[in-house]
Amino acid sequence: MESKKSSLASSTPNISPSAQGLTQFQGFWIPTLIAPISSIISFQKYFQALDEDIIVASKPKAGTTWLKALVFTIVNRHSYKLSNTPLNSANPHQLISHFEIKFYKENLNPDLSKIPSPRLFSTHLPYPMLADSIKRSNCRIVYITRNPFDIVVSSWHFIKGVHNLPDWPLEDCFEMFCRGEESYGPFWEHALGYWNMSMEKPSNILFMRYEELKEDPVAQTKRLAEFLGFPFSIEEEKTGVVNQIIDFCSFNHLKELEVNKTGKMPRSIIPSNKLFFRSGKVGDYINYLSPTAVELLSNVLKEKLSESSLTF
Ligand code: A3P
Repeated sequence: MESKKSSLASSTPNISPSAQGLTQFQGFWIPTLIAPISSIISFQKYFQALDEDIIVASKPKAGTTWLKALVFTIVNRHSYKLSNTPLNSANPHQLISHFEIKFYKENLNPDLSKIPSPRLFSTHLPYPMLADSIKRSNCRIVYITRNPFDIVVSSWHFIKGVHNLPDWPLEDCFEMFCRGEESYGPFWEHALGYWNMSMEKPSNILFMRYEELKEDPVAQTKRLAEFLGFPFSIEEEKTGVVNQIIDFCSFNHLKELEVNKTGKMPRSIIPSNKLFFRSGKVGDYINYLSPTAVELLSNVLKEKLSESSLTF
């Protein structure tokens, strides 16, 4: 794995943030090819939250696809059996779409009032950039985060695939991440916003971690269902419903569905759904980042989060 590891000593020229469409807006780096500033402004201006709304929030590569599959399945489990759930033929991102990547990108003031309750939405935007109506309402936000080392490596693979940059050096991606110049970054600011709000409003914001979901999927899935207002009954627990949902939403199962192997979302710049499913492991970064790189990013995080109870 020697050649894969980042030594932080690349001689290959960097790809600037602007070449990836990254633009600094309201204090965060926005991938404007995917999420135009105009759609963010419209979302902030026009979106009217309802108390029953459920919003999946995350930074890219933190486990969004997985969390969307779980949320969709939990909320809709009385309407669809696993054998006929729309997840069998649609990627999770099509069933829970992003405000800034879909709804307000396709239409600057879409009519979202006809969507049946509870409306399921998602966003990669940081908490401070959410529409005020969300902050004022009683809606529920589930945030997922992940150790930043795995996020860097996952992002690197993903960006190379999306922007067709096979030669983009990992060192470049890593250094940008450490400077906070990455999709919806800085990472620490993004996580902190939701972390702080989850402390302040625990019944409105649930803070989840990819690693905890991997470690104890049963406990975390029950916690998620409870928070969403769709708790599992004793009968459901006894008959194995929780485990059936976990198995259905697992990496190995979703990855093998035809829609995720060969499908592509309409009008999306993501060339193939399969880019959302790479290795699905915790700690894969060890095969890519040198101990020096790991120490460097650890130190950045320690400094940036020094006044917070949030740790990675
Ligand atoms: P890796 O690149 O480390 O494999 P996001 O959905 O936020 O874009 O995150 C993508 C990451 O989650 C990728 O990580 C992907 O493989 C992983 N992933 C996708 N579906 C998953 C699932 N059902 N269970 C666990 N991990 C999953």
